[in-house]
Amino acid sequence: MVSEKLWNKVDRMNRKANKADNESATKSVPDHDVPGVYFKDARDMAELGDNSVGLIFTSPPYHIGMEFEAGYTYAEHLENIKAVLQKCAKALVPGGIFAINVANITNFKGEKGTEKPTRIQPMLHVYNSILKKYGFHLQDEIIWLKGFNSFTKDINVNYSDETAHAEYRIVNRHEPIYIFKKKGERPVPEDENIILQSRLSRSEWQSYAPSVWQINSVRGDKGHPCVFPDELARRIIRMYSYVGETVLDPFLGSGTTIKVARDLGREGIGYERDLRYKATIMEKLGLTHAAAADDANEGYLAKTRNVAEAVKLIPQVHTGSPALEEQTESDSEPEVSLIMSEGIEKEINERAETALEPA
Ligand SMILES: C[S@@+](CC[C@H](N)C(=O)[O-])C[C@H]1O[C@@H](n2cnc3c(N)ncnc32)[C@H](O)[C@@H]1O
Repeated sequence: MVSEKLWNKVDRMNRKANKADNESATKSVPDHDVPGVYFKDARDMAELGDNSVGLIFTSPPYHIGMEFEAGYTYAEHLENIKAVLQKCAKALVPGGIFAINVANITNFKGEKGTEKPTRIQPMLHVYNSILKKYGFHLQDEIIWLKGFNSFTKDINVNYSDETAHAEYRIVNRHEPIYIFKKKGERPVPEDENIILQSRLSRSEWQSYAPSVWQINSVRGDKGHPCVFPDELARRIIRMYSYVGETVLDPFLGSGTTIKVARDLGREGIGYERDLRYKATIMEKLGLTHAAAADDANEGYLAKTRNVAEAVKLIPQVHTGSPALEEQTESDSEPEVSLIMSEGIEKEINERAETALEPA
């Protein structure tokens, strides 16, 4: 966990960035449509039919003072999450997966935002109790371990000669992904080819089944402050959706989920209410040029609606093709390894010990 001093600094930087962004937002928002992306509040998802979405993968606001959270109280934050989850629950197919990447609030200052010292506010019970009402149960939990480089940096920031013994704090380097399953029987495509194309290979399963995934985080300077890595979305989409199905992200941010979903021959649909991210989303989807965007999207949507065509888009998904298996996050730090092993655990411990030795 970062120190309170550091958090205050981050708060100040966010407020400054927010102000500058607000001033420039109206000037820089592209004015044409982005098919499959709704620039509106996901509390209203009237565009989606009930039971029409094969998978939902998202990372909601955490309530940690990010620029897109400015002005929201904790109660308003919860109200937003509850309302969006309710709409998501209706849109998902029976037996479908709702995968949520959300961390505890590590610097929680109480419901009014004034308490000191800050504490951890656990969040799983919040999501669990909302989704339980809509017939979901928590099926699995994945721990996303966010890499070593920034881990070492955090440790150096958090230790000095003045650090009091027995007052050490844990440096937060992981986030959970909760796998919720909706009750009911999941529809399976009639086309056997789709089923074969969608299945994980044994080696993919062996990489993904262990509950700790080490995937380096993405730097926060890519047009959105909290982008998750493509690889995270890729694994979830490969595991829990069929080729040709609709994958929804109600808190779209920079567009990662739908970009990866489309790369994998799924139909990616998203909602984002903050227009500051429209240009970033378009760029991520390869739609920066307005005219080209319209043409490209028409072609994309026509293709992915036709499931047979969608299969052709990803001929090597099931074959363990190096092109897919070795895919790394181009704008993140290089991936160190796929799964938590004893070696990694040992390395974490060794690094922590080295960093905690007095200089
Ligand atoms: C944590 S970010 C998602 C980042 C994303 N996973 C990525 O890789 O870029 C959450 C996003 O949800 C958006 N958001 C929050 N509440 C929303 C709502 N009710 N409807 C639509 N978007 C919302 C915020 O503006 C923010 O961009």
